[in-house]
Amino acid sequence: MTPAPVPLSGPRFQTEPAELYREMRRDHGAVVPVVLDGDIPAWLVLGYRELHQVTGDPQLFSRDSELWNQWDRIPDDWPLLPMIGRRQPSILYTVGERHRERAAMISNALEAVDAFELRSHAEKFADELIDAVCTKGETDIVEDYAALLPVRVLARLYGFSDEQGPGLVTALNDMVNGREGALAGQQHLATSMAQLLADRKDEPADDVVSRMLADPSGFTDEEIVQDLMVMMAAGHQPTADWIGNSLRLMLTDERFAASLFGGRHSVGEAMNEVLWEDTPTQNVAGRWASRDTQLGGRRVRAGDLLLLGLQGANADPQVRTDGSALTGGNSAHFSFGHGEHRCPFPAQEVAEVIARTGIEVVLDRLPDIDLAVPAESLTRRPSPWLRGLTGLPVTFTPVPAR
Ligand code: HEM
Repeated sequence: MTPAPVPLSGPRFQTEPAELYREMRRDHGAVVPVVLDGDIPAWLVLGYRELHQVTGDPQLFSRDSELWNQWDRIPDDWPLLPMIGRRQPSILYTVGERHRERAAMISNALEAVDAFELRSHAEKFADELIDAVCTKGETDIVEDYAALLPVRVLARLYGFSDEQGPGLVTALNDMVNGREGALAGQQHLATSMAQLLADRKDEPADDVVSRMLADPSGFTDEEIVQDLMVMMAAGHQPTADWIGNSLRLMLTDERFAASLFGGRHSVGEAMNEVLWEDTPTQNVAGRWASRDTQLGGRRVRAGDLLLLGLQGANADPQVRTDGSALTGGNSAHFSFGHGEHRCPFPAQEVAEVIARTGIEVVLDRLPDIDLAVPAESLTRRPSPWLRGLTGLPVTFTPVPAR
């Protein structure tokens, strides 16, 4: 009997995703039939080789959501609509030559960021956040720190003033949490971006927005605002989760304990292990088949939706033959995607500097930091897409603010 398609929801994505992906692979192979909200079918690509095939062939497996063969079944209020995207003029759904130009505009604007300055902005904001909690002896290092840091640094790089920072942090967190303030948060961000663009047109500065405006490929203001929204949202949450998931690993796994007492050598190893074993970007939507084809022994029809199973592919036994942890320098994981639509390389570097600096500042300022609750009681957000902790309560010896 053919096993039934797997619902892409439920508590196991929160509690034991690795086990779940193993079972899916055992029962269905490298390309798993899944159902989304409202019984909408899709394929989850869990095989390392198959994921290379999908992300490496943007003609056959397109980013163009207009190709979807399920649009007539999708209601206007479908909860996953914001993630699938339709007729959104951002880089995410642009294809072909125009996409290449657009990715180059973003990459060039981020590549010109001075690494030394980036690190010093990250340190400054990280120190401010630690100052707000360090005299108390306890805090939630996800809620009061990791969830606030990347957006502050990115806002500064893109061109916002430090005074605008806290408002943008609240707006972005409201937007990504999808709570009642989500729409207002999104509007605040969009208005702030549009205002920043107008200011920089009058008076260019040494920042990301001014460089995007100066790009010769002629993208409209609306397109640049859309891309800035993507760069803010796609940049903040995974970087915040990278910090949170790495600190959790360091606080719960004795292989990394030494670094909590002043050694920094294993910060990079913990961060890399998280990208292999506990990546912020677990599953990503999507690609659409531009014609009937075969993938991992499955018949995929024109217009079918494929979801990128990044965490599943990272753990594919065909590449992880001995099942061991892959730390050290091996970065052949899928956590930043692959191919033309992958996370731009300069964005990956910016994320790395923010996450590493964020973790190092915690270890420097709160050297005896320890978990305040049993490790088993830590919980994740209930999402099959982005994996991060709902909180990470810690204790430490109180120290004065700087
Ligand atoms: C400074 C922080 C970051 C920025 C500015 C950023 C920006 C972006 C942008 C603009 C894209 C779209 C690329 C395109 O469509 O061509 C993208 C894609 C992506 N990013 Fe990032 N990102 C950041 C951090 C991260 C982190 C920390 C992760 C994961 C650990 C991540 C994972 C991804 C993935 C998986 C995609 C590809 C989605 C796909 O293939 O469809 N990003 N990012």
